[in-house]
Amino acid sequence: MHSSSPIKKAIFPVGGLGTRFLPATKSMPKEMLPVVDKPLIQYAVEEAAEAGVEEFIFVTGRGKSAIEDHFDHSMELEQTLESRSKTEALALVRDMMHQPGSVAYIRQQEPAGLGHAVWCARHIVADEPVAVLLADDLIKAAAGKKNCLGEMVDAWSAHGGNMVAAMEVPLNDTSSYGIITPGDSHGPLTEVNGLVEKPKPEDAPSRLAVVGRYIIEPGVFSELSRMERGAGGEIQLTDSLARRIGEVPFHGMTFSGTRFDCGSKLGFLQANVAFALDRDDLAADLSQWMKDQNL
Ligand code: G1P
Repeated sequence: MHSSSPIKKAIFPVGGLGTRFLPATKSMPKEMLPVVDKPLIQYAVEEAAEAGVEEFIFVTGRGKSAIEDHFDHSMELEQTLESRSKTEALALVRDMMHQPGSVAYIRQQEPAGLGHAVWCARHIVADEPVAVLLADDLIKAAAGKKNCLGEMVDAWSAHGGNMVAAMEVPLNDTSSYGIITPGDSHGPLTEVNGLVEKPKPEDAPSRLAVVGRYIIEPGVFSELSRMERGAGGEIQLTDSLARRIGEVPFHGMTFSGTRFDCGSKLGFLQANVAFALDRDDLAADLSQWMKDQNL
């Protein structure tokens, strides 16, 4: 089955170390941390699939093989569930299988930055626009709305070029994000006139930050191949996007959902509470417990 989305491929950079979640991430990829009962990476993959993506490209690193296993059949588990007539659980694990040949894994041999990770996927992407999703940024869709990437794909269809998800952050936090020099705004879209990686608050051009959803055009890959190092000595996606300003349209999209920074402990805990409170099987008991605890 083919979707009508103009964006058929998505890159998931999953090579990061996850030092902020040690010891949990000592032998487990941080992208496998579960929010309620689903790993972070699966939320990102489902968001992309819902937005029409048909090919999933994971840029992995050492110690990340659990992600490959997660998106493959587990024959032993499936047989056991079948023999015990656990039909719901069986459907759950079978439904997450993708079309044979639609999932690719590329190994990023050195942790040289997000731009480098994306560049590692260049041969699979070839000459077409591609989405990039960072699983750390978990975005809960607003009720009745499309998910973040879905909203971006709609907006991108009208404008093309490059697009990032954007949100205002506290001034003190600019040094954790790519920060936009905003131009004109049209509804949720803001023209990007400049982009700088992790500026100090006193140097930040605004408080409008990039969160981990991108749609990038092929010209970005040409810029990435210059291999120029930027903030933190890393090859930054931000820098290559910035170099395309003036060449192609570039917009930041303020999405309607809620973003949780699951790269931080606080954001991860908040995501667990928010997603649990949205679940029919958990909401009532969890909110009652929180009331009883005066939380
Ligand atoms: C990356 C990007 C940064 C962006 C952020 C969103 O940074 O380099 O521009 O604002 O993701 O989460 P990281 O969080 O990987 O350091």
